[in-house]
Amino acid sequence: MRITVIGTGYLGVTHAACMAELGFEVLGLDIDPVRVASLSEGLLPFHEPGLPELLRKHVKSGRLRFTTSYQEVGAWGDVHFIGVGTPQRAGEGAADMSFVDAATISLARNITKDSLIVGKSTVPVGTTRRLKTLVRDNKRPGVSVNLAWNPEFLREGFAVVDTLTPDRLVVGVESPEDEAILRKVYAKALADGVPLITTDFETAELVKVAANAFLATKISFINAFSEVTEAVGGDIRTLADAIGLDVRIGRRFLNAGIGFGGGCLPKDIRALQARAAELGLDRSMRFLDEMDQINLRRRERAVDLARVMLGSLSQSRIAILGVTFKPNSDDVRDSPALDIANKLFDEGAEVTVYDPAGNVNASRRSPQHHYVTSMGDAVKNADLILLLTEWDEFKTLTPEGLAAQTGTRKIIDGRNILEARVWEDSGWSLGSIGRRYSATQVTEGPHREQLQLSSGPSA
Ligand code: UDX
Repeated sequence: MRITVIGTGYLGVTHAACMAELGFEVLGLDIDPVRVASLSEGLLPFHEPGLPELLRKHVKSGRLRFTTSYQEVGAWGDVHFIGVGTPQRAGEGAADMSFVDAATISLARNITKDSLIVGKSTVPVGTTRRLKTLVRDNKRPGVSVNLAWNPEFLREGFAVVDTLTPDRLVVGVESPEDEAILRKVYAKALADGVPLITTDFETAELVKVAANAFLATKISFINAFSEVTEAVGGDIRTLADAIGLDVRIGRRFLNAGIGFGGGCLPKDIRALQARAAELGLDRSMRFLDEMDQINLRRRERAVDLARVMLGSLSQSRIAILGVTFKPNSDDVRDSPALDIANKLFDEGAEVTVYDPAGNVNASRRSPQHHYVTSMGDAVKNADLILLLTEWDEFKTLTPEGLAAQTGTRKIIDGRNILEARVWEDSGWSLGSIGRRYSATQVTEGPHREQLQLSSGPSA
């Protein structure tokens, strides 16, 4: 069985390399010749732990190749996975389906033998049925081309392990024959006991967006409570630990902080609302708008806190530690950290950024900041430090260690990874998101009634 993968972004390259690792012959396609040239040399154009090694290994073995030619893909492959992007449409919440549609039409026109097209991208419900019509109208006569939907649940930073050993496999199919093909593709995972859920197209599409909506809701839920603990003086981490011990709730994805970002959760909850509205079901998904608002408010909170701790942001020198949307990634798409850096700059701060992997991508989007290659360079002249992405090297920071590199004793912990009491006992002013603080009343900023600043040991 020969496998092709259309689109060589995160999802596509990971899937292609993992399929090669499972022993399949794989051909990846991208319309970008520069990307194809780079991948053909075994060079990964983004940061993903474990993937560069897998890519190099299978490019070298000849089991994994890349092309820009749909003709080649259509004549060669038996199973074609579509992993192109479905970004948010400019100025709207809805997903831009033009890449998925274009890939499907190009495939259908070029497939010369009986094949199965398997969608993996995150799409609005109803897409597979719509694509079926596109395939029927564009395929060559006498060739049978079936469709299936098999959503991908991989997390950045864990893409390889999530692909090779997923929590579950979901396939939306119309025939037992198509299910049998996918069972062959995933034979190793199935033998290892990974559950397979076989269902219709619509359910398969919805499982993916429902999972992401649930995760976003969980994060916004704890962040809504963090607004309350900030106001009344509680500790959001202890609250999350306590409710998380209830196995029905679970502790994961209850980390309060500056909120969720990245290429998936924000766009997926907006696309889901847009699709629900198209279906006349806007009320069903309206709560997601509130989740989005809570999430964005956390970014404002970090800026308000910075303003309060400095008196004024104008002409202040601010060090940002961590600019990616999460650790172990170089991705800054919809990154809360980069958004906060930009807001601080817009209010007159001079911003210096250090991130172990995200500087290059961040500097392309926000060239107005200074980007430095060490934490020491970022903090040395700072008036205030904001820790915004929980990379391992920041988790091990100590008050003494940081104090040796900077003159300031003011820090905001945007991810709740520092022990507030330890830092405060060492003479630091620690502004935290959702944690206990001592009562210094805030005098400015849109959320002043909720904002209080930790200064010195708390009671
Ligand atoms: C997500 C889903 O987890 C994955 O299943 C799906 O396939 C794609 O979208 P990803 O975007 O890689 O994966 O990141 P994830 O680990 O889910 O984190 C998303 C965002 O939520 C990050 O900005 C992270 O910092 C934030 N987050 C996560 C929190 O703020 N608190 C938490 O407790 C967990």
